[in-house]
Amino acid sequence: MAKILLVDDEPSILSVLSVLLKAEGYEVVPCDGGEKAVELIKNTPFDLMLSDIRMRPIDGMQLLKLAVEHQPAMAVLMLTGYGTVETAVESLKLGAFDYITKPFKLDELLITVKRALEYNKALSENVQLKAQLTAQYQFENIVAESRSMRNVCEMIERVAPTDTTVLIYGESGTGKELVAKAIHAHSGRKAKKFLPLNCAALPEPLLESELFGHTKGAFTGASADKEGLFEVADQGTIFLDEIDSMPLSIQAKLLRVLQDKEIRRVGGNESVQVDVRVLAATSTRLEHLIEQGKFREDLYYRLSVIPIEIKPLRERPEDVLPLAYHFLRQETGANKTIPTVDAEVINLFEQYTWPGNVRELENALKHALTFAKDNMISRDCLPAKLLQSTPPVIGGQRKLDDFRGKSLKAFLRVKEKEYLSQALAYTDGDKQKAAKALRISLATLYRKLPEPKE
Ligand SMILES: Nc1ncnc2c1ncn2[C@@H]1O[C@H](COP(=O)(O)OP(=O)(O)OP(=O)(O)O)[C@@H](O)[C@H]1O
Ligand SMILES: [Mg+2]
Repeated sequence: MAKILLVDDEPSILSVLSVLLKAEGYEVVPCDGGEKAVELIKNTPFDLMLSDIRMRPIDGMQLLKLAVEHQPAMAVLMLTGYGTVETAVESLKLGAFDYITKPFKLDELLITVKRALEYNKALSENVQLKAQLTAQYQFENIVAESRSMRNVCEMIERVAPTDTTVLIYGESGTGKELVAKAIHAHSGRKAKKFLPLNCAALPEPLLESELFGHTKGAFTGASADKEGLFEVADQGTIFLDEIDSMPLSIQAKLLRVLQDKEIRRVGGNESVQVDVRVLAATSTRLEHLIEQGKFREDLYYRLSVIPIEIKPLRERPEDVLPLAYHFLRQETGANKTIPTVDAEVINLFEQYTWPGNVRELENALKHALTFAKDNMISRDCLPAKLLQSTPPVIGGQRKLDDFRGKSLKAFLRVKEKEYLSQALAYTDGDKQKAAKALRISLATLYRKLPEPKE
């Protein structure tokens, strides 16, 4: 039942209203002056406050301001005499729900109280709903319909605020960098830099100086001192992509940086303190590389304090269509209608194995949008690779569907019959010629021609 704070320095009104509201089933806390009310507003949650305006030394307007500040979810109704109507109007601007003019009719007062409470309930439900929605879509740019992607999002949420290193594993194009960015964006470091570095893109000496910096003259071409990524990203996050390609010598240095939290520039002898969170990604299982002596086991354990695995898209088909529409919306722009996607295309998307994962899907949609006609994406808008690797379509139905669940023998019979018909068409119905072309006897041809029976 709703809890009401009732404030009036006039004892008769206080007791009448108190009795009336209690009779309606409300829990009422009567308060005969502003001072006591201040404490209650600050410390006890109420659903509604009904307060007189003119009181001394603390008046209703002051209580209202306090209420807005301390209990924004509480509805406030003001009681006003003729002399304070203007102030009452002012109270609405400050956030009061309504005011009631004295002398008031009891039933009208009750109706106003009820309305205020209902309104506030709806409002707070709405706030809760919004909070739920934000929680659900906190990673607004990550589509996660499948259970495995939802788990990934949960992991991001959990590890983001910590400073642990995270090793993200996933095939190419599964969203490793997107996950790394989300971790950074939901961490205390979000206002600082997020610096990605692809370890496979640079040869060993360059990679080292890129990471740790160098001093002037450290090697040929080092014409000035240079900060490395660890210094540039101070207080931020570094994302080491394709960490599996990192040469062993640099692995050793990285391990030291992770342990000591300080770096030494190439060619320098001074150590510099760094505060950087390291996230790493790989599409090769590091365990295999450790066995082959290509990756340091100790570094592996340092990096993979928290491992996050992103499954390939073919193992989470529930994500395909939501992702497709996500990219369509993204590419089409906010003010335009997104194109209609032909059922055949949807069918094809669901069947395809997406070896290039989400990136391939994204590119396929960009391609399709370029070729879309009349705001419609049909089969012929798709990239050739996708069409080639999915079964051909006849009359809008994929041919293999016709044979689903039937025996191989039945399938072969139908295929054979098709081939025989082609041969007959080729020879204008001349069975002898057809049999010869097919290198079978005429009898065999006759036997094979009738409807195959299961
Ligand atoms: N779950 C997802 N929701 C929305 N977009 C996604 C999702 N997963 C991946 N993407 C998008 O797909 C593209 C490829 O993702 P990303 O670059 O993060 O993959 P990657 O694993 O780092 O790939 P690579 O191994 O090739 O570097 C990006 O445009 C990314 O925004
Ligand atoms: Mg990447």
